[in-house]
Amino acid sequence: AAPLAKKLPTLGFAPVGFSAEDRVIVPAGYVAELLYAWGDPVGIKGKMPAFKPDASNSADEQALQAGMHHDGMAFFPLAAGPRASKRGLMAINHEYTDEGLLFADGMKTWNGDKVKKAQAAVGVSVIEVEDTGRGWRVVRPSKYARRVTASTPIAISGPAKGHPLMKTDADTKGELVLGTFQNCANGQTPWGTYLSCEENFTDLFVNDSGTLSDLEKRYGISNKDAGYKWAWEDFRFDAQINPNEPNRFGWVVEIDPFDPTSRPAKRTALGRFKHEGATVTLAPDGRAVVYMGDDQRFEYIYKFVSKHKYKPANRSANLRLLDEGTLYVARFNADGSGDWLELTAGKNGLSLEAGFSNQGDVVIKARLAADIVGATKMDRPEWIAVHSHKPGEVYCTLTNNNNQRGADGKPGVDTANPRADNKFGHIIRWNEAGADAAATGFKWDIFALAGRPDTVKAEHQGNLKGDAFGSPDGLKFDANGVLWVQTDISTSTLNAKEYKGLGNNMMVAVVPESGEFRRFLTGPNGCELTGIAFTPDMKTLFVNIQHPGEPESERSDPDQAKAISAWPDGAAGSRPRAATVAIRKLDGGVIGS
Ligand code: FEO
Ligand code: CA
Ligand code: CA
Ligand code: CA
Repeated sequence: AAPLAKKLPTLGFAPVGFSAEDRVIVPAGYVAELLYAWGDPVGIKGKMPAFKPDASNSADEQALQAGMHHDGMAFFPLAAGPRASKRGLMAINHEYTDEGLLFADGMKTWNGDKVKKAQAAVGVSVIEVEDTGRGWRVVRPSKYARRVTASTPIAISGPAKGHPLMKTDADTKGELVLGTFQNCANGQTPWGTYLSCEENFTDLFVNDSGTLSDLEKRYGISNKDAGYKWAWEDFRFDAQINPNEPNRFGWVVEIDPFDPTSRPAKRTALGRFKHEGATVTLAPDGRAVVYMGDDQRFEYIYKFVSKHKYKPANRSANLRLLDEGTLYVARFNADGSGDWLELTAGKNGLSLEAGFSNQGDVVIKARLAADIVGATKMDRPEWIAVHSHKPGEVYCTLTNNNNQRGADGKPGVDTANPRADNKFGHIIRWNEAGADAAATGFKWDIFALAGRPDTVKAEHQGNLKGDAFGSPDGLKFDANGVLWVQTDISTSTLNAKEYKGLGNNMMVAVVPESGEFRRFLTGPNGCELTGIAFTPDMKTLFVNIQHPGEPESERSDPDQAKAISAWPDGAAGSRPRAATVAIRKLDGGVIGS
């Protein structure tokens, strides 16, 4: 755990303004440098195909290059001591694809090779990076370099392993699944592994049989996908033919970045839902606790508490920690108290009659289990951050809820989700009883209502000092106790409607105790800011620029996208590319100081 701060941190940088400029803007005295963009080779020896700017790289080449739409990520030092912040591994999620940009002729034709390339452009990258003294670079080749894609064999581990609902014709034992996708936010364990979270997995599946099961309906499988067209060429994604394949997604995947030959594992004890992130902390007794949001309107906040304790000297035991434990879901009571409601077969109404004959049923149908125990339906839980100096103090971004609270058949406002028209979102905070992350009770409050002070609509005004921000998403405490917040204002409202004049997506820094609030970074046009990783010395901050140039449709053609953003390649490039950026202070100081 981090040492206790002797005094409150203060923010030492001059805030940047709102921006509609097509570049990354950081405060005076800082520099933001491109590190790893879609299509860059990951760095596998002898297999480093260069990015072809016309997007004509093949599926096989894409599987050796950075995927699309970088999201959550983590930095893993490769050395101890001062070198820890000079060389490391980075695991980076590639959430989804924009097929209009992925292929030389965009969406004009469709075939199996295109599906193969799209499947190679999602998942995770593991890259080696080093600080050269003149900036960061990707080390190529590197023995650690790896891509995990939608085709990589991944073990099914924990209570759902071997469950009848996990078995398919291709995997009659229900123990091995091909791939991961819609990898949104992330987690990082004290034992040096990466957690990659499968969010909108239902976007890839189609079931047009005309009859959907209750389980399919509850998770959002329908008669059409979100435009990816995988099911057209790969029947694995046709849920009418392979009804259990969707059950094999919606999990947290654990990856050991230090061993490129290791098999990743879906840790099913953590439950199946549209996982945003998986934030790991340790309880005072050493059990691992994982906080997780399910990012959809009116979904829940979960936590997992491991049965066994973290053992600093026994990595192989730690690698099994997330397979056994207790899953909970949060209820925020009106009086400011809260309860973690246990999701265990046989308890709290999760009976055989209710469809839960074992823990495999509970984790596969976690949303249905959470409905039964009476958890609180939230305004889209995104990232969760644990205070770096206050054990048991936890923050969660609730990104927004577009005027649906109180609408027909929807839950009304409650004290934890107090706005009917929550277009700007909020950040909720809870303190676990006894400052123990494994506790089953907590006290909560609303840390921040995001918004803009200059609007007349009360529900769109914020309560933080400083100025406007909205749709908070990425969230992380740095080692000094500064809370970093990234925004994901959707393209349809970016600098428009309620958000007019607020420019591009941004990253702000907040000191929770003092309320000090400053805008640190603004992104290029049409992008979302996501992914936060610091080097241990806090002198480099890595962030991801996701979907620069995104038009409202999310399926662009290159000309349309480039008219919005030419980042990062400028006029010489043929299309915008998502990328990781490394940010340093020119005087070599600590970020934010
Ligand atoms: Fe992929 Fe909820 O963000
Ligand atoms: Ca997100
Ligand atoms: Ca979001
Ligand atoms: Ca996104």
